[in-house]
Amino acid sequence: MHILAIETSCDETASAVVTDGGEVLSSVVASQVADHAVFGGVVPEIASRRHIELIRAVVGEALQQASISPKDLSGIAVTQGPGLVGALLVGISFAKAFAYGLKIPVCGINHLEGHLSAARIGHELTYPHIGMVVSGGHTSLYRVDSESSIEEIGRTIDDAAGEAFDKVAKLLYLGYPGGMVIERISRGIDPRAFELPRPLMNDGSYDFSFSGLKTAVLNLVIRSEIFADMDLRFSGLPEAKKPLPGKEHLIALISAAFQHAVIDVLVTKAIKAVKDHAMDLLVVSGGVASNTALREALQEKTGSEGIRLVIPERKYCTDNAVMIALASIRHFRDNRHAPLDMNAVSRWSSITGA
Ligand code: KG4
Ligand code: ZN
Repeated sequence: MHILAIETSCDETASAVVTDGGEVLSSVVASQVADHAVFGGVVPEIASRRHIELIRAVVGEALQQASISPKDLSGIAVTQGPGLVGALLVGISFAKAFAYGLKIPVCGINHLEGHLSAARIGHELTYPHIGMVVSGGHTSLYRVDSESSIEEIGRTIDDAAGEAFDKVAKLLYLGYPGGMVIERISRGIDPRAFELPRPLMNDGSYDFSFSGLKTAVLNLVIRSEIFADMDLRFSGLPEAKKPLPGKEHLIALISAAFQHAVIDVLVTKAIKAVKDHAMDLLVVSGGVASNTALREALQEKTGSEGIRLVIPERKYCTDNAVMIALASIRHFRDNRHAPLDMNAVSRWSSITGA
Protein backbone atom coordinates (compact mmCIF):
# COMPACT_ATOMS: atom_id res chain seq x y z
CA MET A 1 0.00 0.00 0.00
CA HIS A 2 1.34 3.45 -0.97
CA ILE A 3 0.25 6.43 1.14
CA LEU A 4 0.59 10.00 -0.09
CA ALA A 5 0.81 12.48 2.80
CA ILE A 6 0.27 16.22 2.80
CA GLU A 7 1.23 18.67 5.57
CA THR A 8 0.30 22.38 5.46
CA SER A 9 -0.44 23.26 9.10
CA CYS A 10 1.98 26.19 9.33
CA ASP A 11 4.68 27.55 7.04
CA GLU A 12 6.02 24.43 5.32
CA THR A 13 4.27 22.91 2.31
CA ALA A 14 5.22 19.24 2.54
CA SER A 15 4.37 15.97 0.83
CA ALA A 16 5.71 12.44 1.07
CA VAL A 17 5.09 8.91 -0.16
CA VAL A 18 5.45 6.11 2.39
CA THR A 19 4.49 2.44 2.24
CA ASP A 20 2.21 0.93 4.88
CA GLY A 21 5.29 -0.93 6.10
CA GLY A 22 6.81 2.45 7.00
CA GLU A 23 9.29 2.63 4.12
CA VAL A 24 9.95 6.25 3.10
CA LEU A 25 9.87 6.57 -0.71
CA SER A 26 10.01 10.36 -0.89
CA SER A 27 9.85 13.52 1.20
CA VAL A 28 9.54 17.05 -0.12
CA VAL A 29 9.42 20.16 2.08
CA ALA A 30 9.03 23.65 0.60
CA SER A 31 9.82 26.13 3.33
CA GLN A 32 8.21 29.56 3.36
CA VAL A 33 10.65 30.91 5.95
CA ALA A 34 11.93 33.64 3.62
CA ASP A 35 8.38 34.88 2.98
CA HIS A 36 7.70 35.33 6.69
CA ALA A 37 11.15 36.40 7.92
CA VAL A 38 10.63 40.02 6.86
CA PHE A 39 7.59 40.16 9.17
CA GLY A 40 9.39 38.54 12.11
CA GLY A 41 6.93 35.63 12.30
CA VAL A 42 4.42 33.54 10.36
CA VAL A 43 1.68 35.64 8.72
CA PRO A 44 -1.30 33.26 8.39
CA GLU A 45 -2.75 34.83 5.25
CA ILE A 46 0.60 34.72 3.45
CA ALA A 47 1.07 31.09 4.56
CA SER A 48 -2.28 30.07 3.04
CA ARG A 49 -1.54 31.82 -0.25
CA ARG A 50 1.91 30.26 -0.55
CA HIS A 51 0.48 26.79 0.17
CA ILE A 52 -1.97 27.29 -2.71
CA GLU A 53 0.88 28.30 -5.02
CA LEU A 54 3.17 25.46 -3.95
CA ILE A 55 0.98 22.44 -3.25
CA ARG A 56 0.62 21.03 -6.77
CA ALA A 57 4.34 21.18 -7.44
CA VAL A 58 5.24 19.75 -4.02
CA VAL A 59 2.86 16.78 -4.35
CA GLY A 60 4.02 16.23 -7.95
CA GLU A 61 7.63 16.20 -6.81
CA ALA A 62 6.85 13.72 -4.00
CA LEU A 63 5.22 11.34 -6.51
CA GLN A 64 8.07 11.76 -8.97
CA GLN A 65 10.78 11.14 -6.36
CA ALA A 66 8.91 7.99 -5.29
CA SER A 67 8.66 6.94 -8.97
CA ILE A 68 4.96 6.23 -8.71
CA SER A 69 1.91 7.59 -10.47
CA PRO A 70 -1.30 8.69 -8.70
CA LYS A 71 -3.05 5.46 -9.71
CA ASP A 72 -0.54 3.52 -7.56
CA LEU A 73 -1.76 5.30 -4.43
CA SER A 74 -4.02 3.50 -1.98
CA GLY A 75 -4.78 6.41 0.36
CA ILE A 76 -4.08 10.04 1.16
CA ALA A 77 -3.18 11.28 4.65
CA VAL A 78 -3.48 14.95 5.44
CA THR A 79 -2.84 17.06 8.53
CA GLN A 80 -6.28 18.03 9.88
CA GLY A 81 -5.00 20.07 12.84
CA PRO A 82 -3.98 21.68 15.08
CA GLY A 83 -2.60 24.62 13.13
CA LEU A 84 -3.55 27.69 11.12
CA VAL A 85 -7.04 27.06 9.74
CA GLY A 86 -6.48 28.72 6.37
CA ALA A 87 -3.20 26.88 5.90
CA LEU A 88 -4.69 23.53 6.94
CA LEU A 89 -7.65 24.00 4.58
CA VAL A 90 -5.36 24.21 1.56
CA GLY A 91 -3.90 20.76 2.29
CA ILE A 92 -7.26 19.30 3.30
CA SER A 93 -9.07 20.59 0.19
CA PHE A 94 -6.31 19.33 -2.09
CA ALA A 95 -6.25 15.93 -0.37
CA LYS A 96 -10.03 15.50 -0.52
CA ALA A 97 -10.25 16.49 -4.19
CA PHE A 98 -7.31 14.26 -5.16
CA ALA A 99 -8.68 11.30 -3.18
CA TYR A 100 -12.17 11.79 -4.62
CA GLY A 101 -10.78 11.84 -8.16
CA LEU A 102 -8.73 8.70 -7.53
CA LYS A 103 -11.55 6.96 -5.62
CA ILE A 104 -9.28 6.26 -2.64
CA PRO A 105 -9.79 7.03 1.07
CA VAL A 106 -8.42 10.04 2.90
CA CYS A 107 -7.45 10.19 6.59
CA GLY A 108 -7.26 13.36 8.71
CA ILE A 109 -4.20 13.26 10.97
CA ASN A 110 -3.30 15.15 14.13
CA HIS A 111 -0.05 17.07 13.58
CA LEU A 112 1.20 16.12 17.07
CA GLU A 113 0.60 12.43 16.49
CA GLY A 114 2.70 13.07 13.39
CA HIS A 115 5.58 14.56 15.38
CA LEU A 116 5.50 11.59 17.79
CA SER A 117 5.38 9.12 14.87
CA ALA A 118 8.50 10.63 13.26
CA ALA A 119 10.50 8.68 15.85
CA ARG A 120 9.53 5.44 14.07
CA ILE A 121 11.78 6.29 11.11
CA GLY A 122 14.68 3.92 11.54
CA HIS A 123 13.78 3.03 15.13
CA GLU A 124 11.74 0.27 16.69
CA LEU A 125 9.59 1.87 19.40
CA THR A 126 8.47 -0.05 22.45
CA TYR A 127 5.29 0.70 24.40
CA PRO A 128 4.48 2.23 26.77
CA HIS A 129 6.83 5.20 26.56
CA ILE A 130 6.95 8.92 27.24
CA GLY A 131 6.82 11.28 24.26
CA MET A 132 7.75 14.94 24.27
CA VAL A 133 6.89 17.32 21.40
CA VAL A 134 8.82 20.59 21.45
CA SER A 135 7.95 22.86 18.55
CA GLY A 136 7.02 26.41 17.64
CA GLY A 137 3.36 25.85 18.50
CA HIS A 138 3.53 23.13 21.18
CA THR A 139 5.49 21.89 24.14
CA SER A 140 3.82 18.82 25.61
CA LEU A 141 4.55 15.56 27.35
CA TYR A 142 2.61 12.41 26.49
CA ARG A 143 2.11 8.99 27.96
CA VAL A 144 2.11 6.77 24.87
CA ASP A 145 0.61 3.38 25.77
CA SER A 146 0.29 2.21 22.18
CA GLU A 147 0.18 3.71 18.69
CA SER A 148 -3.46 4.56 19.26
CA SER A 149 -3.47 5.42 22.97
CA ILE A 150 -1.73 8.74 23.53
CA GLU A 151 -2.52 10.79 26.62
CA GLU A 152 -1.20 14.30 27.15
CA ILE A 153 0.11 14.54 30.72
CA GLY A 154 1.51 18.07 30.59
CA ARG A 155 1.81 21.07 28.32
CA THR A 156 2.98 24.65 28.27
CA ILE A 157 0.64 27.02 30.04
CA ASP A 158 1.82 29.96 27.90
CA ASP A 159 4.49 30.05 25.16
CA ALA A 160 5.86 26.98 23.39
CA ALA A 161 9.63 26.46 23.67
CA GLY A 162 10.18 27.21 19.96
CA GLU A 163 8.06 30.34 20.29
CA ALA A 164 10.32 31.44 23.17
CA PHE A 165 13.40 30.87 20.98
CA ASP A 166 11.78 32.96 18.25
CA LYS A 167 10.78 35.78 20.62
CA VAL A 168 14.16 35.94 22.34
CA ALA A 169 15.90 36.00 18.94
CA LYS A 170 13.62 38.85 17.99
CA LEU A 171 14.38 40.92 21.08
CA LEU A 172 18.10 40.36 20.47
CA TYR A 173 17.54 41.50 16.84
CA LEU A 174 18.81 38.17 15.51
CA GLY A 175 16.04 37.64 12.94
CA TYR A 176 13.43 34.92 12.39
CA PRO A 177 13.11 32.01 12.98
CA GLY A 178 15.16 32.13 16.14
CA GLY A 179 15.98 28.56 17.12
CA MET A 180 18.77 27.91 14.65
CA VAL A 181 20.46 31.29 15.06
CA ILE A 182 20.40 31.09 18.87
CA GLU A 183 21.86 27.59 18.66
CA ARG A 184 24.58 28.82 16.31
CA ILE A 185 25.74 31.83 18.30
CA SER A 186 25.56 29.94 21.62
CA ARG A 187 27.92 27.22 20.42
CA GLY A 188 31.01 27.07 22.62
CA ILE A 189 29.80 29.94 24.83
CA ASP A 190 29.69 29.55 28.63
CA PRO A 191 25.95 29.45 29.48
CA ARG A 192 26.57 30.40 33.11
CA ALA A 193 27.51 34.07 32.68
CA PHE A 194 23.89 34.96 33.43
CA GLU A 195 21.51 33.09 35.69
CA LEU A 196 18.00 32.96 34.22
CA PRO A 197 14.85 31.52 35.84
CA ARG A 198 13.59 27.98 35.19
CA PRO A 199 9.81 28.49 35.48
CA LEU A 200 7.81 25.50 36.83
CA MET A 201 10.92 23.30 36.68
CA ASN A 202 10.43 21.78 40.10
CA ASP A 203 6.70 22.33 40.65
CA GLY A 204 5.90 18.60 40.54
CA SER A 205 3.72 18.88 37.43
CA TYR A 206 4.51 18.02 33.80
CA ASP A 207 3.54 21.50 32.64
CA PHE A 208 5.87 24.10 31.17
CA SER A 209 6.02 27.89 31.14
CA PHE A 210 8.36 29.92 28.97
CA SER A 211 6.89 33.42 28.85
CA GLY A 212 8.45 34.43 32.20
CA LEU A 213 11.85 33.31 30.92
CA LYS A 214 11.38 35.45 27.83
CA THR A 215 10.50 38.45 30.04
CA ALA A 216 13.59 37.77 32.19
CA VAL A 217 15.71 37.92 29.03
CA LEU A 218 14.00 41.17 28.03
CA ASN A 219 14.72 42.71 31.44
CA LEU A 220 18.33 41.56 31.23
CA VAL A 221 18.72 43.11 27.78
CA ILE A 222 17.24 46.41 28.99
CA ARG A 223 19.33 46.40 32.19
CA SER A 224 22.50 45.67 30.26
CA GLU A 225 21.78 48.61 27.89
CA ILE A 226 22.75 46.57 24.84
CA PHE A 227 20.76 48.54 22.28
CA ALA A 228 20.33 52.31 21.89
CA ASP A 229 16.54 52.19 21.93
CA MET A 230 14.50 49.03 21.85
CA ASP A 231 11.23 48.13 20.22
CA LEU A 232 9.38 46.43 23.07
CA ARG A 233 6.29 45.37 21.16
CA PHE A 234 7.36 41.80 20.28
CA SER A 235 5.48 42.32 17.06
CA GLY A 236 5.68 44.18 13.80
CA LEU A 237 8.71 44.58 11.61
CA PRO A 238 11.95 43.95 13.51
CA GLU A 239 14.36 46.56 12.18
CA ALA A 240 17.92 45.36 12.11
CA LYS A 241 19.76 46.82 15.06
CA LYS A 242 23.37 46.48 16.14
CA PRO A 243 24.42 46.31 19.79
CA LEU A 244 26.12 49.43 21.17
CA PRO A 245 29.94 49.37 21.00
CA GLY A 246 31.42 47.17 23.70
CA LYS A 247 28.15 45.24 24.21
CA GLU A 248 28.43 42.82 21.28
CA HIS A 249 29.67 39.91 23.38
CA LEU A 250 26.55 40.04 25.57
CA ILE A 251 24.33 38.78 22.72
CA ALA A 252 26.01 35.36 22.66
CA LEU A 253 26.22 35.16 26.46
CA ILE A 254 22.51 35.90 26.86
CA SER A 255 21.57 33.51 24.03
CA ALA A 256 23.59 30.73 25.62
CA ALA A 257 22.11 31.36 29.07
CA PHE A 258 18.59 31.35 27.60
CA GLN A 259 19.14 28.16 25.59
CA HIS A 260 20.62 26.51 28.68
CA ALA A 261 17.59 27.44 30.80
CA VAL A 262 15.13 26.05 28.22
CA ILE A 263 17.12 22.83 27.89
CA ASP A 264 17.39 22.46 31.66
CA VAL A 265 13.60 22.64 32.04
CA LEU A 266 12.85 20.33 29.09
CA VAL A 267 15.33 17.66 30.18
CA THR A 268 14.28 17.81 33.85
CA LYS A 269 10.56 17.46 33.06
CA ALA A 270 11.03 14.73 30.46
CA ILE A 271 13.19 12.63 32.79
CA LYS A 272 10.75 13.16 35.66
CA ALA A 273 7.87 11.92 33.46
CA VAL A 274 9.82 8.82 32.42
CA LYS A 275 10.79 7.98 36.01
CA ASP A 276 7.39 8.74 37.57
CA HIS A 277 5.71 6.45 35.03
CA ALA A 278 8.38 3.76 35.41
CA MET A 279 9.15 3.81 31.66
CA ASP A 280 12.38 2.96 29.90
CA LEU A 281 11.98 4.88 26.64
CA LEU A 282 11.83 8.62 25.93
CA VAL A 283 10.86 9.89 22.47
CA VAL A 284 11.50 13.57 21.69
CA SER A 285 10.41 15.34 18.52
CA GLY A 286 9.37 18.72 17.05
CA GLY A 287 11.43 21.57 15.62
CA VAL A 288 13.28 22.37 18.86
CA ALA A 289 14.42 18.72 19.06
CA SER A 290 16.74 19.51 16.15
CA ASN A 291 18.78 21.64 18.59
CA THR A 292 22.17 19.98 19.09
CA ALA A 293 22.66 21.20 22.66
CA LEU A 294 19.23 19.79 23.62
CA ARG A 295 19.98 16.48 21.90
CA GLU A 296 23.31 16.21 23.71
CA ALA A 297 21.81 17.11 27.10
CA LEU A 298 19.06 14.50 26.61
CA GLN A 299 21.60 11.90 25.55
CA GLU A 300 23.77 12.56 28.58
CA LYS A 301 20.92 12.52 31.09
CA THR A 302 19.08 9.50 29.67
CA GLY A 303 22.41 7.68 29.41
CA SER A 304 23.20 8.20 33.08
CA GLU A 305 19.65 7.19 34.08
CA GLY A 306 19.63 4.04 31.92
CA ILE A 307 16.75 5.33 29.78
CA ARG A 308 16.61 4.63 26.03
CA LEU A 309 16.30 7.82 23.97
CA VAL A 310 14.90 8.15 20.45
CA ILE A 311 15.06 11.49 18.62
CA PRO A 312 14.33 11.57 14.87
CA GLU A 313 16.94 12.84 12.43
CA ARG A 314 16.87 16.65 12.31
CA LYS A 315 14.95 16.83 9.02
CA TYR A 316 12.17 14.73 10.55
CA CYS A 317 12.03 16.80 13.79
CA THR A 318 10.84 19.92 11.95
CA ASP A 319 7.57 19.87 10.02
CA ASN A 320 7.44 17.28 7.23
CA ALA A 321 4.90 14.96 5.62
CA VAL A 322 6.65 11.65 6.31
CA MET A 323 5.56 11.91 9.94
CA ILE A 324 1.94 12.42 8.82
CA ALA A 325 2.12 9.33 6.59
CA LEU A 326 3.56 7.24 9.43
CA ALA A 327 0.87 8.38 11.85
CA SER A 328 -1.79 7.53 9.25
CA ILE A 329 -0.82 3.86 8.87
CA ARG A 330 -2.94 2.77 11.85
CA HIS A 331 -5.84 4.96 10.69
CA PHE A 332 -5.89 3.25 7.28
CA ARG A 333 -5.45 -0.17 8.88
CA ASP A 334 -8.47 0.48 11.15
CA ASN A 335 -10.49 2.09 8.33
CA ARG A 336 -10.65 5.37 10.23
CA HIS A 337 -11.29 7.23 6.98
CA ALA A 338 -12.43 10.85 6.98
CA PRO A 339 -15.72 11.87 5.39
CA LEU A 340 -15.50 14.26 2.47
CA ASP A 341 -16.88 17.06 4.64
CA MET A 342 -13.82 16.82 6.93
CA ASN A 343 -12.91 20.28 8.22
CA ALA A 344 -9.74 21.80 9.68
CA VAL A 345 -9.34 21.69 13.47
CA SER A 346 -7.36 24.66 14.80
CA ARG A 347 -7.17 23.38 18.40
CA TRP A 348 -7.27 19.68 19.02
CA SER A 349 -7.29 18.63 22.66
CA SER A 350 -6.87 14.87 22.40
CA ILE A 351 -4.72 13.15 19.79
CA THR A 352 -6.71 9.94 19.44
CA GLY A 353 -10.12 11.54 18.96
CA ALA A 354 -11.05 14.67 17.00
O1 KG4 B 1 8.05 21.57 14.49
P1 KG4 B 1 8.29 22.87 13.78
O2 KG4 B 1 9.04 22.81 12.47
O3 KG4 B 1 6.96 23.62 13.51
C1 KG4 B 1 5.89 23.63 14.44
O4 KG4 B 1 5.10 22.66 14.44
O5 KG4 B 1 5.88 24.60 15.22
O6 KG4 B 1 9.07 23.81 14.83
C2 KG4 B 1 9.46 25.13 14.51
C3 KG4 B 1 10.08 25.73 15.74
C4 KG4 B 1 10.45 27.21 15.59
O7 KG4 B 1 9.98 27.91 16.73
C5 KG4 B 1 11.98 27.20 15.54
O8 KG4 B 1 12.58 28.37 16.08
C6 KG4 B 1 12.30 25.99 16.38
O9 KG4 B 1 11.31 25.04 16.06
N1 KG4 B 1 13.62 25.45 16.03
C7 KG4 B 1 14.66 25.39 16.89
C8 KG4 B 1 15.75 24.89 16.15
N2 KG4 B 1 15.34 24.66 14.87
C9 KG4 B 1 14.02 25.01 14.82
N3 KG4 B 1 14.75 25.73 18.19
C10 KG4 B 1 15.95 25.56 18.78
N4 KG4 B 1 17.04 25.09 18.14
C11 KG4 B 1 17.00 24.75 16.83
N5 KG4 B 1 18.08 24.29 16.21
ZN1 ZN C 1 5.15 20.89 13.94
